[in-house]
Amino acid sequence: MLGSRWTKVVLFAVCLVPFLLLLWPFWKLVTTGYAPELGANPVEYITHDTGTWTIRFLLITLCITPLRKIFNQPKLTRYRRMLGLFAFFYVCLHFMTWFILDKSFSLSDMWADVLKRRFITMGMLGFAMLLPLAITSTAGWVRRMGFAKWQRLHRLIYFAALAGVIHYYWLVKSDVRLPLMYGAILAVLMLYRVFMWKQAPARRAPAPRAAATSPNTASLPD
Ligand code: HEM
Repeated sequence: MLGSRWTKVVLFAVCLVPFLLLLWPFWKLVTTGYAPELGANPVEYITHDTGTWTIRFLLITLCITPLRKIFNQPKLTRYRRMLGLFAFFYVCLHFMTWFILDKSFSLSDMWADVLKRRFITMGMLGFAMLLPLAITSTAGWVRRMGFAKWQRLHRLIYFAALAGVIHYYWLVKSDVRLPLMYGAILAVLMLYRVFMWKQAPARRAPAPRAAATSPNTASLPD
């Protein structure tokens, strides 16, 4: 089942659900003039929703390797690139909401906010780290860069997730339970990697060139 093309199509549709659920109240607002879900501040509603889905998709992407190893399911790797790209899709929506609806396309306002508010600085850092990962996510880029270099670059996802957690922790005013929960999940996922890395030093040897064919099948950064 994990090897089936249809499973990938279904997962793609599932990953789009948060986006469709986000559009739904706006559609209701346009057609009926009434959408209580949006609350008093629709911009805040979109920012919170897209931010939450960005951090969730980052953590789900980072779950693939541990799940693959624990349950001995190598085919799970097929889904990692798509999940990572969905994290990027949601962070783009998140960033664009802030840049378009909050900063009205003003680059000077944007930089002023990046310099003024530390949680925005940290969010931008996370976004900046995800950008090269999305650009180089194709098989062509794996070949162009060489697998070892490409794999090193893609370890940025760990730091992007950390930046996302710090960004969330810094922005909440009182109840820090949710950012701490995401932080704890990230810590477990990273500790698993450190543990596996220490267990098998042989894995650190350069990967054979033959593996560097597709980000779906090659041994992506763990
Ligand atoms: C890795 C990248 C990022 C992640 C994981 C992330 C995640 C989040 C999360 C989880 C929230 C809180 C959602 C909630 O309260 O329910 C949030 C809020 C927010 N994020 Fe991000 N974010 C990222 C990047 C950015 C960037 C690049 C910007 C803009 C420069 C940004 C601007 C904001 C703003 C303005 C809020 C709302 C703050 C408030 O409530 O006052 N984020 N983000």
